[in-house]
Amino acid sequence: MDLLCPVCGAELNRLDNRYVCPRGHSFDIARQGYVNLLAVQQKHSRNPGDTREQVLSRREFLEAGFYAPIAQALIGTAKGLGISGPVLDVGCGEGYYSSRLAQALGAPLTGLDISKEAVRCAAGKYKGAQWLCATASHIPVADGSAALLTSLFALTAPEEFHRVLQPGGYFFQVLAAQDHLLGLKAIIYDQLTFKEKDTQPEFPGFARVQSVPIRFSFTVEGKQVQNLLSMTPHVFRITKEGAARLANTPCLTDTASCVLNVFRRI
Ligand SMILES: C[S@@+](CC[C@H](N)C(=O)[O-])C[C@H]1O[C@@H](n2cnc3c(N)ncnc32)[C@H](O)[C@@H]1O
Ligand SMILES: [Zn+2]
Repeated sequence: MDLLCPVCGAELNRLDNRYVCPRGHSFDIARQGYVNLLAVQQKHSRNPGDTREQVLSRREFLEAGFYAPIAQALIGTAKGLGISGPVLDVGCGEGYYSSRLAQALGAPLTGLDISKEAVRCAAGKYKGAQWLCATASHIPVADGSAALLTSLFALTAPEEFHRVLQPGGYFFQVLAAQDHLLGLKAIIYDQLTFKEKDTQPEFPGFARVQSVPIRFSFTVEGKQVQNLLSMTPHVFRITKEGAARLANTPCLTDTASCVLNVFRRI
């Protein structure tokens, strides 16, 4: 995918182990194979995004195959729509879903995440793809680059997504549903509260063509119980008592419940 300079917006050209723009802004390709295109003013903290610990927990959990039905739903849906062009995964994490999706489609892949640890981990394992440390709100790729953009349990920036998608391209959004991981929540919270959640949003410039429910049960044991927590935003909300209860949980059967929304860019 053609990359843009995060400082001035001009096209970047590859020169040995770096990317340079005509105005002389330069970005090194890290030893692990990713490039940092996160401009200083786009960083809201020293190390934005998921921490190394979260990334490693997610990798260990996903690699064990607990969420394989989500990868299968992505692949089946994309194949059903006949998608074959470049894939852009926004908030890609350590790359589990999009590497499998792009491989199944035989499509080139670009993954971006604001967490350097996440893209470092993705680049270390999935060598054939382009990995960028960048923000979803300023995606450093040229207009109309992607045939398929995915945002999986990650944030949505509809205007940027519209810009970087080809006309007629697809946006796949995976959202957790209201009843996602109720077993985990029942352990870590004293009381379960239900906030109304819109799992079928609409975005200007996009037509929603399908909403696919994905629901399945799984059982985790030992360290994977903790990994499951670390992958979720609950890790930041948990109380000491909740953490202690989870630490005393050797085995947990839970239900993953999410929605795959398919949008076509108009
Ligand atoms: C819940 S994780 C999901 C990761 C991956 N899509 C998956 O499902 O395995 C959300 C990801 O979004 C990233 N993220 C948070 N803010 C971001 C931003 N502004 N731009 C790009 N990525 C961001 C985090 O670093 C994290 O890796
Ligand atoms: Zn520049």
